[in-house]
Amino acid sequence: MTRRGQPDALYRRAKTEGYAARSVFKLKEMDRRYGLLRPGQRVLDLGCHPGSWLQYAAQRVGRGGLVVGVDLQPPTVSLPPWVRFVQADVLGLTPEGLRAYAPAYDLVLSDVAPRTTGVGHQDAAASLALSEAAVDLALALLVPGGSLVAKVYYGPGVDELILRVKGAFKLGKGHKPEASRSASREIYILGRGLKPRPGD
Ligand SMILES: C[S@@+](CC[C@H](N)C(=O)[O-])C[C@H]1O[C@@H](n2cnc3c(N)ncnc32)[C@H](O)[C@@H]1O
Repeated sequence: MTRRGQPDALYRRAKTEGYAARSVFKLKEMDRRYGLLRPGQRVLDLGCHPGSWLQYAAQRVGRGGLVVGVDLQPPTVSLPPWVRFVQADVLGLTPEGLRAYAPAYDLVLSDVAPRTTGVGHQDAAASLALSEAAVDLALALLVPGGSLVAKVYYGPGVDELILRVKGAFKLGKGHKPEASRSASREIYILGRGLKPRPGD
């Protein structure tokens, strides 16, 4: 929806194509650009409600893959059997808990967004905490060569988080998808090709 509550073109297109949200076009663009998703992958999707990223990731990984979605609220769409949903707070997740679904993951996605208060610095701090949790989980759970996409509202601490991702992955950067509204402070932190850790 637009800021004034009117459906925009991407919102209408998402509905026509059967996706739960217009956010799907951001993931599609990043997948096209950075080659994130492949058949057979194990994908963790943090902040997955209402489910458009789950729908797209499930199509791309196919029945030989696995998509584990986490959110405070369940998806609103029906999903194939290779998608699992975990109702939980991202800030309370542990790598051990997520290894119950797969021993390791090929891709960690995070579109998790805090409930906004309208107070810019508070919203940015809440978003940063969620993105840091996503990066921590990705660094613990990804296979060497694995990738990460994590939304964050731009603010203090984000450049440092991007630097951390740059150090851990062969490619690390911030990206603003075309489908992201220009008025929004959101960017996506991308890490592609996790470098081997000591002991890998
Ligand atoms: C922008 S929506 C995600 C849209 C989703 N990628 C899609 O394509 O359908 C952000 C989600 O983050 C979730 N969220 C916010 N804080 C959370 C938290 N602490 N733990 C888990 N989920 C959270 C919200 O419930 C919301 O569903």
